[in-house]
Amino acid sequence: MCGIIGINGIHDASPRLVEGLRRLEYRGYDSAGVATLVNGHIERRRAEGKLSNLDMKLRDQPLSGTVGIGHTRWATHGGPTENNAHPHATKRVAVVHNGIIENYQELKDELTGHGYVFESATDTEVIVHLVTYYLDQQGMTPVQASAAAFKRFTGAFALVLIFAGEHELMIGARHGTPLAVGYGDGEMYLASDAFALAPLTNRICYLEDGDWVEVSRAATIVHDASDAVVDRPVKTTAVSGALIGKDGYRHYMLKEIYEQPQVIGDTLNAYINPETGTFTLPDFPFDLAGASKLTIVACGTAYYAGFVAKYWFETLARIPVEVDIASEFRYREAPLPPGGIALFISQSGETLDTLEALRYCKRQGQKILSIVNAPESTIARESDAVLYTMAGPEIGVASTKAFTTQLTTLACLAVTVGRARGAIDQERMQQIAHALREVPARAADVLAHDERLKELAQEVSEARDVLYLGRGAMYPLALEGALKLKEISYIHAEGYAAGELKHGPIALIDDNVPVIVLVPSDALFEKVVSNVQEVCARSGKVLLLADRKGIDKLKDKVRWSVELPACDPLVAPLLYAIPVQLLAYHTAVLKGTDVDQPRNLAKSVTVE
Ligand code: F6R
Repeated sequence: MCGIIGINGIHDASPRLVEGLRRLEYRGYDSAGVATLVNGHIERRRAEGKLSNLDMKLRDQPLSGTVGIGHTRWATHGGPTENNAHPHATKRVAVVHNGIIENYQELKDELTGHGYVFESATDTEVIVHLVTYYLDQQGMTPVQASAAAFKRFTGAFALVLIFAGEHELMIGARHGTPLAVGYGDGEMYLASDAFALAPLTNRICYLEDGDWVEVSRAATIVHDASDAVVDRPVKTTAVSGALIGKDGYRHYMLKEIYEQPQVIGDTLNAYINPETGTFTLPDFPFDLAGASKLTIVACGTAYYAGFVAKYWFETLARIPVEVDIASEFRYREAPLPPGGIALFISQSGETLDTLEALRYCKRQGQKILSIVNAPESTIARESDAVLYTMAGPEIGVASTKAFTTQLTTLACLAVTVGRARGAIDQERMQQIAHALREVPARAADVLAHDERLKELAQEVSEARDVLYLGRGAMYPLALEGALKLKEISYIHAEGYAAGELKHGPIALIDDNVPVIVLVPSDALFEKVVSNVQEVCARSGKVLLLADRKGIDKLKDKVRWSVELPACDPLVAPLLYAIPVQLLAYHTAVLKGTDVDQPRNLAKSVTVE
């Protein structure tokens, strides 16, 4: 999703803006641009597509100037063209913006009435015309004009403004979408996250919702939503300035799939004492074990991790669990019981729908626990307690290692709560601790099937539609498998609960539709075996992901199989995630898609 950066500096801004944008690339974008003050005038360079196009343009037509703003745009209003790319500008002001100005049409009509001419199809352009209107026709100063304009916008936004002739001023605002202020030596910065600023400074202040900030080279003045001057703490961030490489892998996604034994191990080390095998979750400032209800909310892959955890919390902890996608949950005014706990799962910690769902639950008196990968993220900051996943930065847009470390953390949490509630005994707890600690080694065994999965990807890549089936905790895994395939190979895929097949989806089965079935040896094994037989009886082409027991039982019936390690059913979702990731990856490579930055997708989804 859009990334923004601003520099009010003493050295040339443009190369450093581009470097910052490179660090924001992981969020996903389809055009990019920068603007600087050149002898007091606003000058822009913008380009469709990748940053290399902008880079080329800047090589042909360099931009001087020490004050500037930069943007990677993920199109919402108006196509991904150069004309719609940010920065948007008038003669007097330029802006980069992340989010959506929801009342832009109304403002555009008003400003058109005042004689302003719009050049793009974006919502963003109203920002510069409105500020210019306040400057030109109301005689306001840049600070007054900006403050007045911010009060007119509805929706979520983070933005940075620079002004012609104003070398000592850059203004940033945060309304629902993150914005960080960086403190340098004689320079100041603004950006979507600390990662973009890491080569420039490690002194960061995260603005709070509704804040806006005046930034000169030497100081900042932060205002809250009512314009009162406020103090916000400046922290030393641990975010690394090093750019993350692919370490010889062809794509970040493949590297991140292969990192899973390591990062699952790191996450286990955070939550299980490797010496004693006991779970070591931190004390929470609320009674999780005594919760009347657990409400789990997340988006996309993180939601599927929560969906797997629902099975775990129900069986291991006997606690009532509701799980929902954040974009639905946040608007459906769910009644939440006193004593309830709400659990939010997010790799980025910035997903707007998840954040708004969190705020809803807070207003309903729920205690807030979150599982996030990005330590300094907004979701982490707004939670009562946080469990971090130890995945490290995930660059590929398709979530892989974040998912399995979320599952790892959730498994540790479910077992801990289960034991505290007396729903499982000490022996079962130790069995699970042992099974979990085996996962890194077993995950490495699963990765050894990579070549076989690559061969099978050839078959999948020729399909128009693919089905994924599973039961119990393998049902969310089927949904996740289908999501992975869809998002990076653009092949239509659906995940179904295997038992639901005969209630409709079975009509889709023919010998053109690969059906990928996840069948570990668990309590539902025989039920899934029957579902596989139903598919085979209708000439379905089944790819079986199973352990030896399943392979022995079904190998004569199915078209292809991959043998996975036998394991405690509880940890099966962690292992079965890997072949579905690899299958999607190799299929996407065969289809020639942009694996790490699939079309239309963003890594950090900061609009709703
Ligand atoms: C899919 C994927 C997305 C994210 C979703 C939530 O591979 O990556 O579905 O899982 O956008 O993102 P976070 O976890 O950052 O809240």
